[in-house]
Amino acid sequence: MLAIRIITGEHLRLAAVLHGMLYAVRQVRFGGAQPDLDLLGAMVSYIRAFPERFHHPKEDEYLFRLLRERNADAAPLLDRLQAEHRASAHKVTQIEQALMLCQRGGAPEFAKFASAVAGYAAFHWDHVRAEEYEVIPLAESFLLDRDWEIIDAAFTGHSDPLLGAEAGAEFSELFRRIVALAPPPLGTGPGRSAADSRRSSPQPQESPSAPSEKRRQPPR
Ligand SMILES: [Fe+2]
Ligand SMILES: [Fe+2]
Repeated sequence: MLAIRIITGEHLRLAAVLHGMLYAVRQVRFGGAQPDLDLLGAMVSYIRAFPERFHHPKEDEYLFRLLRERNADAAPLLDRLQAEHRASAHKVTQIEQALMLCQRGGAPEFAKFASAVAGYAAFHWDHVRAEEYEVIPLAESFLLDRDWEIIDAAFTGHSDPLLGAEAGAEFSELFRRIVALAPPPLGTGPGRSAADSRRSSPQPQESPSAPSEKRRQPPR
């Protein structure tokens, strides 16, 4: 079940970008930093393109479709998650619009961007939690070996080049750009160290936990 490792890995990578966005937002709102619009723009591009063009379509077309065929009781859960895939696009549009206003209007607009990012991050954690703690266990119970062969092929990019290796390389490049732009401890770009940030600005906990901590928690 290679696909399960790939799905959870893709969740972690997206969560890492969201965590980075929340961190960057806190640095501006509570640390007095200037918004790094190049970095934030790259992060917004990632959360726009990666789920919409790469991750959600594979879940919908392969994992969810086959699970529906094997277990009709999963339909309400899968209906909800597919509706969330559609809602996700709208939420990212709100983030894009808020960032555009920041680029035009500067600091006064940043609170709207911060709020949109926090809302999307909370939405994403809930969605991923349902997939990892509800959908994947159901899939492990109900899907057949031949189903997993199809799903593994899709998630490794061997059956659909549009969703597979080529697109994966494009998103890996964008992810590397984000890491190169982001300051420590998130990335390798220029900026203040975490210790500097902590000394100068105690950080209120307005955001969800880091992704690695979140994934180990049991479902609510
Ligand atoms: Fe999903
Ligand atoms: Fe997912």
